[in-house]
Amino acid sequence: MRIVSVVGARPQFVKLAPIDKELKRRGIEHIIVHTGQHYDPLLSDVFFEDLGISAPAVHLGVGSDSHGKQTGAIMAALDDVFTEQNPDWVLVYGDTNSTLAAALSAVKLHYPVAHLEAGLRSFNRQMPEEHNRVLTDHCADLLLAPTQVAADHLAHEGMDGSGTPAVVITGDVMTDVLLEIMEQVTEDDPPFSDLGVKPGEYSVATIHRAENTDDPSRLDTIVASLAAIDHAVVLLAHPRLIAKCAEYDISLSQGNLLAHDSVPYPKLVNAVLHSRGVITDSGGLQKEAFLMRIPCTTVRPETEWVETVELGWNVLVEPGDALVAAASRPAPKPTAATPYGDGAAAAAVADALANWNPIE
Ligand code: UD1
Repeated sequence: MRIVSVVGARPQFVKLAPIDKELKRRGIEHIIVHTGQHYDPLLSDVFFEDLGISAPAVHLGVGSDSHGKQTGAIMAALDDVFTEQNPDWVLVYGDTNSTLAAALSAVKLHYPVAHLEAGLRSFNRQMPEEHNRVLTDHCADLLLAPTQVAADHLAHEGMDGSGTPAVVITGDVMTDVLLEIMEQVTEDDPPFSDLGVKPGEYSVATIHRAENTDDPSRLDTIVASLAAIDHAVVLLAHPRLIAKCAEYDISLSQGNLLAHDSVPYPKLVNAVLHSRGVITDSGGLQKEAFLMRIPCTTVRPETEWVETVELGWNVLVEPGDALVAAASRPAPKPTAATPYGDGAAAAAVADALANWNPIE
């Protein structure tokens, strides 16, 4: 069996890591195609190095552009790659432009498509990620849902697993990686000592979503809110955030805000484990904070990872007073719930790919 994985953006490299490892362990041929959507070393190369992911066999080098141009460039380049590789499965990850482009290219060439992280929904039709995940689910042959909630969303849209597409609940592969990396984090390696912050006394923040960065007034309020929090906030700044703040003349060094470059994955895990809270608009980080039992404040009106909110570890806020107050709230009562599985999702994904024959 030959599986072609298509990835391009930071969170996809994290999801790819346990899949690549599991497929290698089983001796399954695995070809990685990097679209080049993310090209900064801190958003790309370090993930391959730190997480031991095989080098991409193909790099499309598409870079940044408008949604249509970026998605179209990836599709155009992938047609030839898929034809040459003749895969048994094209495996696509999450909800980026790389995901949708790969799914569309593959399905039109009649290569079976498996969608990892199927069924997530924000129900916000303004988000590029919502367009990408809905369209990808509706053209894929095998839907690998991380949770029961995700599978319920698929069933509600008519994809209940009877016939094509098949639906399999696998658990969440980011949980696999996180549990492994957490074991490697040592007590005697306190993060951000260069910034003068002490373990347990700072929050980690990331903001990069277009909905938050592309409106100058909203972005200004978000940055001012982070600066007004009553403890140090280490902001791990995505290139998009840095570019937009420069464009709108918004300072990233104000109040309690400490701007820092994006960090490699093990350093992020270490940073969150030693923090008192997380403030983010990332999908993955909400879940990672929950798995590390660190309170999360999400600067969005909705979340795909509803379990984190229902279990009390995540709150959704608007920028301003609500954000400032939420970031200082105490930790909720402990929970032993494991809505994202037990760290064996990659094995479930490999089983599903091996067991389900798209030709039948
Ligand atoms: C993309 C995904 C988003 C995911 C995020 C993770 C889409 C629609 N969005 O958003 O779901 O959460 O990745 O980070 O696919 N840039 C650089 N260097 C890079 C990459 C981007 O400087 O290596 C800058 C460019 O100015 C670019 C901007 O960031 O225009 C946005 O990059 P893009 O890949 O379009 O989307 P992300 O915001 O990273």
